[in-house]
Amino acid sequence: MSSQPEVFLNGEFLPLAEAKISVLDRGFLFADGVYEVIPAYAGKLFRLQQHLERLNNSLAAIRMPPVMNEQQWTEVLNRLLQTHSQSDQSVYIQVSRGAANTRDHQLPSEYQPTIFAMCQSIANDNLAHIAKGVHAITLDDIRWDWCHIKSVALLGNILLKQQAADQQCGEAILLRDGYANEGSASNLFIVKNKQLITPPKSHNLLPGITRDLVLELASADGVDCIEAEISEQQLGTADEIWLTSSTKEIMPVIKLNRQIVGNGQPGELWQRMAKRYSEFKTDLRKQAHV
Ligand code: PDD
Repeated sequence: MSSQPEVFLNGEFLPLAEAKISVLDRGFLFADGVYEVIPAYAGKLFRLQQHLERLNNSLAAIRMPPVMNEQQWTEVLNRLLQTHSQSDQSVYIQVSRGAANTRDHQLPSEYQPTIFAMCQSIANDNLAHIAKGVHAITLDDIRWDWCHIKSVALLGNILLKQQAADQQCGEAILLRDGYANEGSASNLFIVKNKQLITPPKSHNLLPGITRDLVLELASADGVDCIEAEISEQQLGTADEIWLTSSTKEIMPVIKLNRQIVGNGQPGELWQRMAKRYSEFKTDLRKQAHV
């Protein structure tokens, strides 16, 4: 048996090294595709329906129909997870508009989409490190205007992330017209006078699945939450700043642009919500065993 992890490509399960696509694939030539990242705890997929709904919304936004239904995705992803169910995983899904015969900017009238999925371990020691607090910087958002699409065209995001890394920061918080919208790979929350604030969904940010869960958990816990624009000035004077994503969960930001946020430690409300988030994961793991 091969020791290579098994991946899914266009209807087949095969070892990673054998998964090949054409150099004419439009995902490769034009970044003409979309993706999802779905965590799985003890083999149980986290908010699968919401992730698939966002995948289909991203596909619709780039003029592609859904490529598989929920049952088909569930079968594929559960099979990939079977070999990894002991450790927490993030499942990566990518759908591109497939390979045409020639390189042509115009959309092909007929095509076979390329459908790919694989699993990667979630590093729990990395999460423990993040829980101590991360440093962030603000940068101008150089990305395009359709940030609600989970597009594989991530050059803007990765260059911004690297600019943050060059300054020993874990994330860049992106500004447009004086407002902070999200991180290069995460959504943004601030706490001010015990109120939790996150920017409303718009073309300026990805509608994060973790963001929605954090809002749900916070409301259920009696936290005063609002969806409102966050100005650069509000960001700079926040009591707490958090960044959320499927793989990093809720990251407390303890320094912004080299200035201490709050008291320089993960804040009180963060502690409370991190606990709720962890309980949510424990409940999911339990469901995996019934
Ligand atoms: N990125 N905003 C951006 C730009 C992102 O890339 C992500 C996640 C999020 C958070 O979305 P969610 O809570 O659904 O993970 C917000 C993933 C994890 C990635 O690109 O790997």
